[in-house]
Parts: sequence; structure tokens; C-alpha cells
Amino acid sequence: MWAKAIEQAVEQTRRNIGRFGEQFPHVSKNGRYYELNSNSDWTDGFWSGILWLCYEYTGEDVFQDTAIRTVESFRQRLQDKPSLDHHDIGFLYSLSAKAGWIVEQNEEARHTALESADILMNRWREGPQLIQAWGRENDPENGGRIIIDCLMNLPLLYWAYEQTGEVKYAEAARIHAEKSRRFLVRGDDSSYHTFYFDPVTGDAVRGGTHQGYRDGSTWTRGQAWGIYGFVLAYRALKNSEFLETSKRMAKYFADRLPADYVVYWDFDAPQIPETKRDSSASAIASAGMLELMQHLEPHDPLKKQLSDAVVNTMTSLSQNYTPDPASDEQGFIRRGSYSVRSGASPDDYTIWGDYYYLESLMRLEKGIPGYWYSR
Ligand code: GLY
Repeated sequence: MWAKAIEQAVEQTRRNIGRFGEQFPHVSKNGRYYELNSNSDWTDGFWSGILWLCYEYTGEDVFQDTAIRTVESFRQRLQDKPSLDHHDIGFLYSLSAKAGWIVEQNEEARHTALESADILMNRWREGPQLIQAWGRENDPENGGRIIIDCLMNLPLLYWAYEQTGEVKYAEAARIHAEKSRRFLVRGDDSSYHTFYFDPVTGDAVRGGTHQGYRDGSTWTRGQAWGIYGFVLAYRALKNSEFLETSKRMAKYFADRLPADYVVYWDFDAPQIPETKRDSSASAIASAGMLELMQHLEPHDPLKKQLSDAVVNTMTSLSQNYTPDPASDEQGFIRRGSYSVRSGASPDDYTIWGDYYYLESLMRLEKGIPGYWYSR
């Protein structure tokens, strides 16, 4: 049922290899990925992950060779260190070097991924006991700030613990995930995008947003990061509270799907005709729900609701949001929103939306779960 959609994405990727060369895409404008970068942005792992998925689906050399070249580029990035002073090391290296290890058991790729886990550990702040998302240590604005997206960076640390047995990785990840559960998720199962703590004492200060509609709103992509991030925390750490939180956040999301099943950019943004969607939030939530369903009891009533939500969302994305294959548009799913608030790519392709769309399709068609954990 999903093979046609996968094949369209594979063909688009084949064309994009020629279009991008050794560069990495980020967001698009008028259907085309622009401002390609030479591996210096937070999004570059998603291109690598797409290449690995296409290789796993087709077995073709062109995808394998290009994926391997991206891993080499990520190895080099660790030496040159352009833009590694943030928490998104998990996105970057889980889908590139760690994927290279998962798919091919390549020792050098494993080594690169383990080195990257140490770079991520540099974001751990002993005082407030958290992984600082952005900025320098002691930065007045960001020194004690966590963001919900970080839950998807933690799988690099769970994996580093699994590979090395060094508990520091699992402990930092556990404490951070627990703090995220307590402070980012609200009593009604909605979520803050970010939360501020005192950078010295770790005292809780307040919730807020960066990309959402307002401080107390629920940014749909943030909710999606939470659904997926907490179930992966449960998978790695076996704390049932993480599973419960992922379930509650997933139900909140599934209860609020609009008529065409692809969410708007924030659950609290006024829904007027021009309200932007964020197809990437729907793709991330679908992948997260597919993971979550594997951990539910057979008779859990949520299972049917999530299964319907995923099938309806993925059907809508693949039928209504994909480009005409004869056009020269470059992405998989239209109408992603990077940051509506700041006017950045508020209605176009995003490379992470494309990645999670293909991961969801691969989970549905082949049972291949991406590269967040060892298989
Ligand atoms: N992790 C950044 C974003 O979701 O825009």
C-alpha cells in the first residue's frame, strides 16, 4: 500500500543527489531547497538518514556511496567543529554515523558516532542538571534553558551507553528526560516548547516558547518531538512514566487532528483560512506513534486511535502533500513550517519533514524503524 509513496521519495532522492552534490539541504522556497550548506547546520543528518533509508529499500550503490560520503563529511565536521556548539548533535550523528554502524557495522562510523556523543555530553550542565540546548555556558538567556526537541537528541546517549557501558551517558539522558517530563509537559498533556531554570541552582523559573504561537501554547512540532522522544526514553531506560507521557501526548495530538489530518503549526494558533500547516509535525508524530504502538498492550484502546491517526495522516500526506513527479520541486511533502513566528520557511519543504515521512513509510511497509536505536 505504501510502496508507491516510497518509490516516489526514492526517485526524488535520486534526482536530489545530482542537485545537491556534496552539499546538504535545509528548508525550501518555491519548492526548491536553497542555501545548501557544506555540513554546518543542525539539519544535515536528515539528508544522510534519507540516503540510508533509500539504500535499505533499494540496495542500490548510488544511495550507499552517497550515504557513506555524508558520514565521512560528518567525521570531518568533528575535526573542524563548525556549528557543533548546540544540542542537535543527536539529530546530526544518529542519522549519519550511527546509521552507518547500524546498517553496515562500519567500525569507523561507530567510532565517529561515539565521539559525537562526547560532544553532546559537553552540553551537560552539572549545576542545574540538564542538557543546555543553545548558547554558551552561563549565557544569561539560555544558560538554564531546555527545549522539547532535545528528547530526540538523547537516543545518541542511550546508544553510547549501550555500546560502552559508561553510565554517565545514560544518567545525563535520564535526568534530562525526567526534567523534561516534569516541566515541559503540562497537566492537560499539552507541552511547552522550552523551559527556563536558574543556571546555577537549577530552580524552575518558567515555561516559554521559541517557535510556537505564544508562551503557553502547544507548538505542534514540539508535541510531536515529545511523543517520539518519550517513547524512545522508555525503550532505552524502561521507566514506565516515560511510556505514559508519550501515550498522553499522542492522545492529545490525535484528538486534535484537523479535517485533512495534517496539523496546523500550533494547536492554539487561530484557525483562519491562511493558518499555516506544519506537515513535518505530522510526519514526526506518525513515526513516533508507530514506535509507541509497539509498546502498547494488545487491547489498549489507544492502539486503534493511533493506528487510525497514522494511516489517515500518512494517506493524506502521500496523496495531498506530495509534488507532481513531473514538476521540478525537490522535496517529499509540501507545507512544512520551520518557524512561522519568525517568517522562516513557513510553508514549504523541510528536510526533517521529508526524513520522518520516509521513516514512517518505511516503518509501515518494511518495519524499518530508522536509526534511533540498535536493531
Ligand atoms: N529542532 C528544531 C526545530 O524543530 O525547528
